Amino acid sequence: MIHSCSEERKMLILWSLCLIFALSNSLLLVIASPSQHLCLPHQRDALWEFKNEFYVHSDVLSSDNKTEKWRYNTDCCSWDGVSCDPKTGKIVELGLEDSSLNGPLRSNSSLFRLQHLQSLDLSYNNFSGILPDSIGNLKYLSVLREGPNLQLVLPKLSSLIFINLRSNQFKGTLPSNMSSLSKLESFDMNGNSFSGSIPSSLFTIPSLLEVDLGRNQFSGPLEIGNISSPSKLQTLFLGDNHFNGPIPGSLSKLVGLKYLDLSFWNTGRDIVDLSFFSHFISLRGLDLSGIHLNISSTLHFSMIESLILSSCSISEFPKFLETQTKLRNLDISVNQIEGHLPEGFGRLPKLQFVIISGNLFSGELTMLPNSTRLFVGSDNRFSGEIPKRLCELFELRALDLSNNNFSGSFPRCFDNFNTNLKVLHLQNNSLSGVFPEESISLGLRSLDVGHNQLSGELPKSLINCTYLEFLNVEGNRINDTFPFGVSLLPHIQVLVLRSNEFHGPVSHPRDSFSFPNLRIFDISDNRFSGVLPSDYFVGWNAVSSVVEVEDYRYGIVVAGGIRRLYYSSVVLTNKGLKMELVGSVFTMYKIIDVSRNRLEGDIPESIGSLKELIVLNMSYNAFTGRIPQSLTNLTNLQSLDLSQNRLSGEIPPQLGKLTFISRMNFSYNMLEGPIPQGTQIQSQNSSSFAENPGLCGAPLEDTCGGREEPEQEQDEKKEEKEQVLSWTAAAIAYVPGVVCGLTIAYIRTS
Ligand SMILES: *[C@@H]1O[C@H](CO)[C@@H](O)[C@H](O)[C@H]1NC(C)=O
Ligand SMILES: *[C@@H]1O[C@H](CO)[C@@H](O)[C@H](O)[C@H]1NC(C)=O
Ligand SMILES: *[C@@H]1O[C@H](CO)[C@@H](O)[C@H](O)[C@H]1NC(C)=O
Ligand SMILES: *[C@@H]1O[C@H](CO)[C@@H](O)[C@H](O)[C@H]1NC(C)=O
Ligand SMILES: *[C@@H]1O[C@H](CO)[C@@H](O)[C@H](O)[C@H]1NC(C)=O
Ligand SMILES: *[C@@H]1O[C@H](CO)[C@@H](O)[C@H](O)[C@H]1NC(C)=O
Ligand SMILES: *[C@@H]1O[C@H](CO)[C@@H](O)[C@H](O)[C@H]1NC(C)=O
Ligand SMILES: *[C@@H]1O[C@H](CO)[C@@H](O)[C@H](O)[C@H]1NC(C)=O
Ligand SMILES: *[C@@H]1O[C@H](CO)[C@@H](O)[C@H](O)[C@H]1NC(C)=O
Ligand SMILES: *[C@@H]1O[C@H](CO)[C@@H](O)[C@H](O)[C@H]1NC(C)=O
Ligand SMILES: *[C@@H]1O[C@H](CO)[C@@H](O)[C@H](O)[C@H]1NC(C)=O
Repeated sequence: MIHSCSEERKMLILWSLCLIFALSNSLLLVIASPSQHLCLPHQRDALWEFKNEFYVHSDVLSSDNKTEKWRYNTDCCSWDGVSCDPKTGKIVELGLEDSSLNGPLRSNSSLFRLQHLQSLDLSYNNFSGILPDSIGNLKYLSVLREGPNLQLVLPKLSSLIFINLRSNQFKGTLPSNMSSLSKLESFDMNGNSFSGSIPSSLFTIPSLLEVDLGRNQFSGPLEIGNISSPSKLQTLFLGDNHFNGPIPGSLSKLVGLKYLDLSFWNTGRDIVDLSFFSHFISLRGLDLSGIHLNISSTLHFSMIESLILSSCSISEFPKFLETQTKLRNLDISVNQIEGHLPEGFGRLPKLQFVIISGNLFSGELTMLPNSTRLFVGSDNRFSGEIPKRLCELFELRALDLSNNNFSGSFPRCFDNFNTNLKVLHLQNNSLSGVFPEESISLGLRSLDVGHNQLSGELPKSLINCTYLEFLNVEGNRINDTFPFGVSLLPHIQVLVLRSNEFHGPVSHPRDSFSFPNLRIFDISDNRFSGVLPSDYFVGWNAVSSVVEVEDYRYGIVVAGGIRRLYYSSVVLTNKGLKMELVGSVFTMYKIIDVSRNRLEGDIPESIGSLKELIVLNMSYNAFTGRIPQSLTNLTNLQSLDLSQNRLSGEIPPQLGKLTFISRMNFSYNMLEGPIPQGTQIQSQNSSSFAENPGLCGAPLEDTCGGREEPEQEQDEKKEEKEQVLSWTAAAIAYVPGVVCGLTIAYIRTS
């Protein structure tokens, strides 16, 4: 969750170490014998066996997995992620971070035969189970970016400086006595399933600088212990664990703390006084999300840059914030703050990332600081026009004002003078009038104006927004033809035109458009007409796009470099079941909804090429002909609705073999013959097959010999009851974060 500056610093140190090491190695190498194959056969075999201990998911075979690129008959010292000592040929470094290795690291793993390893990095994999004791065999290890066996008394471990087990699935507890790790500076086990308490001996390690144990299942009590000399600890991340009870006063012994995350510490009825934290005079970053806070107006932090106080039951705008002139990043989302955003707020000179969504702010949106890069003001009660002043925020990268009461016309200023703007989300307000041509920033990646009252045509200049990935205009009154130009944009992934007054053909008379990165194509509830050529969906599948995705739930605007943040994922609501497509899973799936239009002709055979399709809705059109056989190729399909068309012929029997399909609907067509056998089909409600004069067999009551009349009345009632499967492309955003601060902001979605 926290790729922070500290992590970068750590990387830098590591990198410099590696560089020095690599330089000295290559020097030696040149002096020795440059072409010599250094790999020792028994070490190569151990590596090879290690590689074979893990199951690699086929979806990721191509990209990240370093071990997949290893070739047995080559010098193992040249294998990706492997470095050898040039003199002895022994493997001294193994860096297999982010390599999609799945499964337990067993105590008899061949890894432990590589006894000369000095540096081991297995972070960002999917290791599960308990850390094996055998890690103690690695006597020379000094940089461990994976797990040591903390259960062992490991004398040599005293040389360990870095421990990084980040983002795996390890379980277990920490040993009660960690004093032996006497040189430890950085301890990162964020994002695993460790439990138990955190030993006070950890904090007595004099060299300790950073501890990140966030996103685990640690519980209390937390004891800081007796620290002899002043603690050097700068970073302590304990958020998203199962700590409960009062925040221990002994934390104040950690006088050097710069970054502290105690989010979602369950203090019960205890109201925590924020002033306790103002005593840490070096504090730059603080996350107390989820903790019920008492905030006095006289409070002052001397150094604070990042303050994350989401879901802290705050009911008034914290006055003290207006004097925090060093503040860069502020998240006070999901509280009950009422009233105007105070003017002093607009004068904070350094403020860049501001998240105030999910409060009760009202009135016009007053000044925002000139330095604002990201402003998330969604889910409040702001009203009036969207202020022109926002157009003067030249630093602005992302603006989200969804779910407010803004009215008036669409702001006319976000045109190409502000090419910095990448995300503009104005969903669910009361904006009206035409969608002005000059409203489009050419740098846009994500534009969401759904659920307003915009009319007129889509701005033609959208086709020049080369980076556009997400476009949602659903629920307006846009009267236009299909935007072929937009579909041709190289990065477009989500196109939602639902519930407008679009009309005309969706297939181009000359050019077929490819849509290689498609994830969601929703043109439902318009007046599109015409035939879809049989090759319509060819080219919608060219790339199985795996987009860079940060963790959606804890999407974090992070330090250093350009990173993207998506927040609020697409939510599928299916009969009360909420299915959130998050993370990498989400990126692989495709959804097509062309329902409620006037499309006719055959359903294109090419639909069967979209292997990743999970939802297909073609209902309420005038499709004719047979159900294409190729549908049976869609093995990931979860929902299929072909109802209310004029389809004839049989339902392809192999459809009964689709295992994930949980909803299907063939009703109101002219289908005939037996309903295919298969548990998924047989468990459908009979209304899914109703009003097809020739269909027979379970779940219909007509057996495939003699027929009875379907029970129409019942069906109608059902129609009212059944909740439609509707999905909301709530919001999706990319936020380039460029600041070097620490934790800047979590954006938590509901
Ligand atoms: C390691 O131990 C597991 C069971 O714990 C066993 O199935 C496996 O064959 C062993 N592997 C080797 C290389 O001995
Ligand atoms: C913890 O371990 C250290 C070194 O291994 C040892 O000196 C010390 O006595 C131990 N402390 C306790 C409380 O067991
Ligand atoms: C801390 O020090 C005090 C006094 O020096 C001592 O009584 C106490 O037992 C110590 N606590 C620990 C956990 O070592
Ligand atoms: C912000 O910028 C505007 C001009 O774009 C300027 O008039 C104003 O003084 C600036 N505000 C601050 C606080 O610097
Ligand atoms: C629209 O915004 C209002 C608040 O202004 C909110 O109550 C409502 O749930 C939102 N609707 C949708 C569909 O998000
Ligand atoms: C798109 O950009 C090109 C080149 O800058 C320009 O000639 C063209 O008019 C633009 N198209 C629209 C619709 O704005
Ligand atoms: C859409 O615009 C056309 C003219 O461009 C007009 O003839 C038609 O009536 C409009 N449709 C609706 C539903 O407003
Ligand atoms: C469906 O799968 C079969 C066999 O896997 C293949 O021959 C056929 O071309 C596929 N059809 C489409 C439309 O992809
Ligand atoms: C199927 O439809 C009937 C009649 O409308 C209804 O009573 C029943 O609950 C439905 N069954 C399921 C599983 O949805
Ligand atoms: C199937 O579609 C028909 C018509 O669109 C609808 O009345 C019926 O409720 C649907 N059945 C299910 C199970 O969704
Ligand atoms: C398909 O779309 C129609 C009309 O938009 C909707 O009523 C129906 O519930 C959808 N079917 C499914 C399975 O979601």
